[in-house]
Amino acid sequence: MELRLSSEQEAMRKLVRDFAGRVIAPQAQSIDETDAFPRSIVKQMGELGLLGLPIPEEYGGVGADYVSYMLAIEEISYASAALGVILAVHTSVGTLPIYHFGTPEQRELYVPKLATGEWIGAFALTEPNAGSDAQSIQTRAVRDGDFYRLTGNKVFITNGGEADVYTVFAVTQPGMGAHGMSAFIVPKETKGFHVGKKERKMGLNGSSTAELIFDEAWVPVENRLGAEGEGFKIAMSQLDGGRIGIAAQALGIARAAFDAGKQYVAQRRQFGRPLADFQSIQITLADLAMQIEAAKLLTYRAATLRARNAPCTMEASMAKLFSTDTAMHVTTEAVQLFGGYGYTKDYPVERYMRDAKVTQIYEGTNQIQRIVIAKSLANKE
Ligand code: CAA
Repeated sequence: MELRLSSEQEAMRKLVRDFAGRVIAPQAQSIDETDAFPRSIVKQMGELGLLGLPIPEEYGGVGADYVSYMLAIEEISYASAALGVILAVHTSVGTLPIYHFGTPEQRELYVPKLATGEWIGAFALTEPNAGSDAQSIQTRAVRDGDFYRLTGNKVFITNGGEADVYTVFAVTQPGMGAHGMSAFIVPKETKGFHVGKKERKMGLNGSSTAELIFDEAWVPVENRLGAEGEGFKIAMSQLDGGRIGIAAQALGIARAAFDAGKQYVAQRRQFGRPLADFQSIQITLADLAMQIEAAKLLTYRAATLRARNAPCTMEASMAKLFSTDTAMHVTTEAVQLFGGYGYTKDYPVERYMRDAKVTQIYEGTNQIQRIVIAKSLANKE
């Protein structure tokens, strides 16, 4: 396997790193403190093409490969994990399902506006009683002439309330489990569709996480994405790609925490010398660097497979699981390296630690990733 980035991928990384360092990093702390959706930065990301990276140019995107897209998420997340998830959800599960499964009319109508950032996308699968067990959603879509009436509640929806277009999953054929679920494109102004409670979270402040309420929302038949009964497969296949994005987000957080810790121990002096001179600190840094490198290799490998349209369900889950566990570990250790200062808001490491936690939970908990890996292994036998 080729481990070198191409010159295009290197150029993408540099472009995003410069933008994130110049525009996002100086505002990251205030985004965290105010918990305000960073709309003006999202707009600038759209102007730079970052909201349509893996979408072909004919649909308003940049036509970059999946590895470049993943590098962009990593670099944005290095500066602000909140902007990382806004970008990842908008693209992986907010735009790509419409691009992959949409009719020519649906593609024409929605993808260019999403890819250019004129609209923001979101993905609505999770419900109060259906998180890990995604098959058990209860939101119903009842056909009524040329419309479906959607009724039910979605929770923990990233970009909820800020997005213009939602890909919503609902049951069309009750009792048929995974084969009774369909996907719908629901614009924000749809009658009967409301945004409910906005969550107050431990971290990822600035990224909105909201409840969606469908009260006999009228969705035209032409807004169904894919055939009736195809919804679960659409969701799962798009989550394969989405999980690589979360792995990249976690990698960005882990790298940021590591760099902050490494810098701090070089200048902090105790017992007459810099902390970095103590072997126990050196060993900690060596372990963290190795774990980050391993997470990077798993993540880049999964993205490379996705870029080639090769199957990557297991590899995506491995990358997501390992990279997010690494982010949690590295950020926790970074707080420890900073000692008492690490626990204060004077340094960013406490934010990194709070932001890292949810990466082990969303887009499938890390327990679910193990189930996906085990099923893939069984299917290979
Ligand atoms: N691609 C395509 N099809 C797939 C698939 C995939 N990756 N995974 C499963 N399927 C198909 C199966 O082939 C099967 O089809 P057949 O019946 O035709 O054979 C069907 O889907 C059912 O599959 P399973 O029997 O494996 O389903 P399950 O219910 O046992 O388990 C699960 C599936 C892996 C546990 C799944 O429910 C899951 O991933 N749960 C976690 C949910 C999740 O990730 N939610 C994330 C929400 S989005 C989010 O978090 C975004 C954010 O805000 C950051």
